Amino acid sequence: MTHLKLDIKNVEQSFSQSDLAKIETELQTCHEQLLKKTGKGNDFLGWVELPSQIDSNILASLEADAKEIAKKAQIYVVIGIGGSYLGARAIIEALQNQFASLKNDRKYPLVVYAGQNMSEDYLAELLEILNQYDYALAVISKSGTTTEPALAFRVLKKHLEEKYGKEEARTRITAITDGQRGVLKQLATEEGYKTYTIPDDVGGRYSVLTPVGLLPIAVAGFDIKKLVKGAQNMQELCFKEKSLKGNPALMYAAVRNLLYRSGKKIEILVNYLPTLFYITEWWKQLYGESEGKDKKGIFPAGVSFSTDLHSMGQYIQDGERSLFETIISIEKSKKSVPIPMDKDNKDGLNFLAHRSFTEINHKAEQGTCLAHLDGNVPSMRIALPEINEETLGELLYFFEFGCGISGYCLDVNPFDQPGVEAYKVNMFALLEKPGYEKQTEEILKRI
Ligand code: PA5
Repeated sequence: MTHLKLDIKNVEQSFSQSDLAKIETELQTCHEQLLKKTGKGNDFLGWVELPSQIDSNILASLEADAKEIAKKAQIYVVIGIGGSYLGARAIIEALQNQFASLKNDRKYPLVVYAGQNMSEDYLAELLEILNQYDYALAVISKSGTTTEPALAFRVLKKHLEEKYGKEEARTRITAITDGQRGVLKQLATEEGYKTYTIPDDVGGRYSVLTPVGLLPIAVAGFDIKKLVKGAQNMQELCFKEKSLKGNPALMYAAVRNLLYRSGKKIEILVNYLPTLFYITEWWKQLYGESEGKDKKGIFPAGVSFSTDLHSMGQYIQDGERSLFETIISIEKSKKSVPIPMDKDNKDGLNFLAHRSFTEINHKAEQGTCLAHLDGNVPSMRIALPEINEETLGELLYFFEFGCGISGYCLDVNPFDQPGVEAYKVNMFALLEKPGYEKQTEEILKRI
């Protein structure tokens, strides 16, 4: 059984029933292509059946490793970029206490991130902290050659070895990478690190349900079996339901493509809880990298309301009309904070006393949604009863499946990312990397 519901009532006036019926036929072909592996990029479809095929021995091994890591580390550094860290971060930040870094009674290591940027200050400040705490690390890279994580790993490996000695440092490193290729695989084999393999047919941004996401999530103390269970439930639904009405991922793909065809080029993923910020970041990578190619694709943006209603709200209500929204709406909160009655009522807020922040937040959501509809910003609403491992597992798979279908509907290959190479070539040329002499000569003329 799945919990996720997709509500499209605030978008229905944007297209006709016959448009919907037409796209339903198109999407049924995409559905078949995805399941029968006959579409573009079909050598990268390992994620489609991943939830139902996850080996229980791997889950048990990840949980056992997580326990060992928790015994010796107060901090767990996850080194990776893009799909090699965003999935783990999205789930951990959705589930963990929002002030986890300040809590003295933490039962599990605090997960922090490195190799997702090249800020010298960031790494220097991380090293300062790591001088003070026991730590372990995961180095995650499918290709095993990405510059940002590789550089961070070089620095952190040295730090770890100096802090604990080479032997002990070895036991504090886990490598998650390709089974055969890449510098990281070679290094991990030579150094004898515990290694997990990312399946060949699972690309970075679809890898959250492999050890890439599951190990850090388990180290942070969350139940990876429940996460996988949620994804399995959504997989089952997505496989068997071919109608838009019965399959929320198909409906999501249908609506966003209809809106795109009608000139709505930007999708804003809206959350009303700051814990979902990194779900948005993960989603931005998933959709941006999968669909933004061949001069096509919806631009994925994100906002956190009501915070951003006081910054981006003006534009969304009143700026260029190329936007639509997808709202992630969570029914229940985990905790409660009573709003007291005040006998003087100088702030005039007694009308809110004894109501919950969650109720007020929901009213903000409903009010905003209607205001945006009046301003010609239609919205879909993804409703979940609460945030937990199982509902998040559903959400992840819902977005992945919707992305594959939507990419096929757009007639792009949703599983490659050729555009990512352009900056790397220029950066290597500017850094005079051996082998880039010709590009260096050319680029120097342009700057
Ligand atoms: O989706 C993808 O494949 C990419 O965005 C990768 O996740 C990202 O570039 C990191 O690559 P790697 O894991 O090879 O270091």
